Amino acid sequence: MLHIFFLLSLILTSAHVLAQDFCVANLASGIVTPSGYPCKMETNLTSDDFAFSGLGLAGNTSNIINASVTPAFVAQYPGVNGLGISAARLDLAPGGVVPMHTHPGATELLYVVHGHITAGFISSANKVYLKTLNKGDVMVFPQGLLHFQINAAGRRPSLAIVTFNSPNPGLQILDFALFANDLPSSLLEKSTFLDDAQVKKLKGVLGGTG
Ligand SMILES: *[C@@H]1O[C@H](CO)[C@@H](O)[C@H](O)[C@H]1NC(C)=O
Ligand SMILES: *[C@@H]1O[C@H](CO)[C@@H](O)[C@H](O)[C@H]1NC(C)=O
Ligand SMILES: *[C@@H]1O[C@H](CO)[C@@H](O)[C@H](O)[C@H]1NC(C)=O
Repeated sequence: MLHIFFLLSLILTSAHVLAQDFCVANLASGIVTPSGYPCKMETNLTSDDFAFSGLGLAGNTSNIINASVTPAFVAQYPGVNGLGISAARLDLAPGGVVPMHTHPGATELLYVVHGHITAGFISSANKVYLKTLNKGDVMVFPQGLLHFQINAAGRRPSLAIVTFNSPNPGLQILDFALFANDLPSSLLEKSTFLDDAQVKKLKGVLGGTG
């Protein structure tokens, strides 16, 4: 009898020390903190919460950069919430470019599925690490550093899958940060040493004002 009580109390106790296996994002909550979204109730979850099908479709590269990034970050793929991981698909048409950018929140690993991609990053010591990658190659882009990818060899499209060590890597494109907002041109010129013609031209292309 005593044994049964002992076993029972062990079972009850272990119910309180179960690991938090996952925390599928409840995007509808409207709440997001630096550590992610609140969890959906486990009883509401199905296998579909852990899968994402969007990376099977080629992105539309008919745009100014001739490239497309299809994210599977937490906002698209709630299952990665809290797990320190996410992914994206990178389609690069011939001549396509993912312009100089950073992910403030994550290191990136790029895997070339097909084609050739010239990629590089710039360290905080301003050294350039540049590489032309072929099918099957991977390259890592350390967190926060400026980097880019180009289908330079390009007569054919290139495809890469990238993964991140954060469900929410963030994305800041350098030229958009500089030329796609209303920072007064005079201040932009002073703070970047660019001349007025260059600033006006890029603001024109990228939709900046001022
Ligand atoms: C769980 O599902 C129920 C019924 O569909 C819904 O009302 C509730 O908001 C869900 N809760 C969470 C936290 O996902
Ligand atoms: C791709 O984007 C362009 C420009 O926005 C658009 O005109 C075109 O219809 C899109 N193509 C497809 C297949 O969605
Ligand atoms: C991007 O594609 C367009 C057609 O969509 C083409 O006219 C243009 O030359 C391409 N740009 C580059 C840099 O290859």
